[in-house]
Amino acid sequence: AGKRAFIAGVADDNGYGWAIAKSLAAAGAEILVGTWVPALKIFETSLQRGKFDESRVLPDGSLMEITKVYALDAVYDTPEDVPEDVKSNRRYVGFSKWTVKEVAESVKEDFGSIDILVHSLANGPEVTKCLLETSRYGYLAAVSASSYSFISLLQHFIPMMNPGGASISLSYIACDRVIPGYGGGMSSTKAALESDTKVLAFEAGRKHGIRVNTISAGPVRSRAANAIGIIDMLINNSFKNAPLQKELLAEEVGNAAAFLASTLASAITGTVLYVDNGLNAMGVAD
Ligand code: NAI
Repeated sequence: AGKRAFIAGVADDNGYGWAIAKSLAAAGAEILVGTWVPALKIFETSLQRGKFDESRVLPDGSLMEITKVYALDAVYDTPEDVPEDVKSNRRYVGFSKWTVKEVAESVKEDFGSIDILVHSLANGPEVTKCLLETSRYGYLAAVSASSYSFISLLQHFIPMMNPGGASISLSYIACDRVIPGYGGGMSSTKAALESDTKVLAFEAGRKHGIRVNTISAGPVRSRAANAIGIIDMLINNSFKNAPLQKELLAEEVGNAAAFLASTLASAITGTVLYVDNGLNAMGVAD
């Protein structure tokens, strides 16, 4: 039987989550996605109206099917964690069971098990502020949405993951090299994510036989990346300085994720895999 993947962090056809979904679908996986509650309505409407049909085309000419879209806010683990103002927020009204625990329960109810868990989400309310000017609130909110959210997803999905299963997150080199403009503690969130990748690989490997890896991706113009405001600079910088002087396609990251999720990578866990045209290897601008 084919594998089943749950991909958290898909809300349009521009980002890494979508590209990973496509590569996994092309490899025969069944696709479930978790979409941030405030973005869900537009995403589903666009899907239904065929707005993404061109981007749904797989190498064999068929269209990627998303079996089910779940509302998700990975900042909240259980309904008890959700503050009143969020519950009554007009962008959340009408949706239910979107905390991590509830989404995991729904997926288990609907499908019983999954094989692949992908975390492709990040958020930092103060991303445009430099670290030195970031507030405690902004920093902790960034870590909550971008790093702890992975721990929470793994914690809640692991009990339904089949042996040999794999999980993947998306990191960025800003955690160990300075990328001015990647602010608000976002650099710190990736440092946490990469460290957690090792510890979680150990724990999930020993207890459950599940692999945990992260892809350190180069820059692509996703919605999240656009919001940071330095994406054009990063793309130009990569084009100029990377060993491979070409555009980085989200699809290339998707393909690397499909590899990591497959049995071809059965001995790979706890790693950071750079998918960045090799930019990470450079010590100075060339
Ligand atoms: P994206 O905008 O396609 O994906 C981010 C997703 O996170 C969005 O769908 C958004 O709705 C969702 N999200 C935000 N807060 C959430 C929450 N609380 N609960 C659930 N979902 C939430 O953008 P992109 O760039 O593809 O981001 C995916 C991952 O790739 C992120 O971890 C990002 O840091 C990472 N990455 C992106 C790079 C880039 O240049 N685009 C470079 C390296 C890493």
